[in-house]
Amino acid sequence: MRMYDLIQKKKDGLELTSEEIEFIIGGYTRGEIPDYQMSAFTMAVYFKGMTPEETANLTLAMAHSGDMIDLSPIEGIKIDKHSTGGVGDKTSMIVGPIAAANGVKIAKMSGKGLGHTGGTIDKLDSIPGFKTVLSEKAFFDCVNKTGIAIIGQSGDIAPADKKLYALRDVTATIDSIPLIASSIMSKKLAAGSNGIVLDVKTGSGAFMKTLDDSIELAKAMVDIGEKAGRRTTAIITDMDNPLGNAIGNSLEVIEAVKVLEGKGPADLTNICIYLAANMMHLAELGTLEECKELAVKAIESGAAKQKLIEMVTAQGGDPEVIKDTNKFKKARFHKDVFADAEGYVTHINTEQCGIASMLLGAGRETKESQINYQAGIILNKKYGDEIITGEPIATLYADDNTLFARAEETLKGAYKIGAAKPDPVPLAYARVSKDGLEYLNK
Ligand code: URA
Repeated sequence: MRMYDLIQKKKDGLELTSEEIEFIIGGYTRGEIPDYQMSAFTMAVYFKGMTPEETANLTLAMAHSGDMIDLSPIEGIKIDKHSTGGVGDKTSMIVGPIAAANGVKIAKMSGKGLGHTGGTIDKLDSIPGFKTVLSEKAFFDCVNKTGIAIIGQSGDIAPADKKLYALRDVTATIDSIPLIASSIMSKKLAAGSNGIVLDVKTGSGAFMKTLDDSIELAKAMVDIGEKAGRRTTAIITDMDNPLGNAIGNSLEVIEAVKVLEGKGPADLTNICIYLAANMMHLAELGTLEECKELAVKAIESGAAKQKLIEMVTAQGGDPEVIKDTNKFKKARFHKDVFADAEGYVTHINTEQCGIASMLLGAGRETKESQINYQAGIILNKKYGDEIITGEPIATLYADDNTLFARAEETLKGAYKIGAAKPDPVPLAYARVSKDGLEYLNK
């Protein structure tokens, strides 16, 4: 086999066999296929696409390029959850404890944030003492003891994807549905859970800007998961509005705890109940409706918050800050941001909100940047809210008050204010499962 011929074949729009795909991925991972040939191949995929068979084979080849985690030492049904990335997305810290409080096993690996998006691991690292790096044995022991553990990606998970993603990033081939689907699913398959709930974001702050593209991506990922023998459901959710009101690491943990106490913002609470219900449904705890009721009860009874406390304790963190979030360290300075106009919020550019938070020190501009865990933003006004003179639209938090000027300008630029109240938008647009596509209006 020659890489040249396989590039030609894809360029001609023909279907590659599983052997050919394994040849490409194996050769590239071992360094036998150079970057310039792989870039030509990814560009051919970008223009000609891939069949569902090819996409599934590409995913399996990438998943098997490194460690395949065997979660069998953990008893019970293990369900994973993945979000395609967003601003203010603290759902993992909420849905994991809700599902675990109902007996679902959560053995989750999460990522760090980069650029305008945050990462669950950075948020958890804001809890004093919390360990996001555990040995495999300690990870399994935590899940067996408490039902849930969330750690950073460890071991050698899908090295082919790591290399390929870096190449796509500099060759303008990120936004290809088969390449995104295989990249995400290769890591999920390698992480070993029996079922996966995917939160596919759509809108200005997301990879997929249109609903049609998001549905296509969701279908591709569900198809891969089911072909690989993992129960998979995708929910397409809105990213035209940051989730909840808090952006920034400890601020988001505090908001997640509020949701688990039944006192969180409605948008975040509702989406978390729906995602957790889908996780429990995949774990065969009942119909989706029954699982929603179980999710609500886990919040009302305090069982879900208790589960988060158990997880934090088992992973070496200080449970007192979860029991009473006033004990979290606070930023030294805060500053209110006022709008220049009156009216209604007609749009919020979520990406710009994420950038403003990063400018305050809450995110990483480069992989090496140090994070300030207490920096960030509380949004007081969201899509559809009325703005009255004298009311702040947001409050900024930082340990260095010279950071406020640029962040304030960026955040103000993220808000569009109009005279008329805009129509409400759904939080979740559609659900894709093995049974097909269902439009939602949640
Ligand atoms: N996230 C991933 O892990 N891979 C992609 O290609 C896009 C988003």
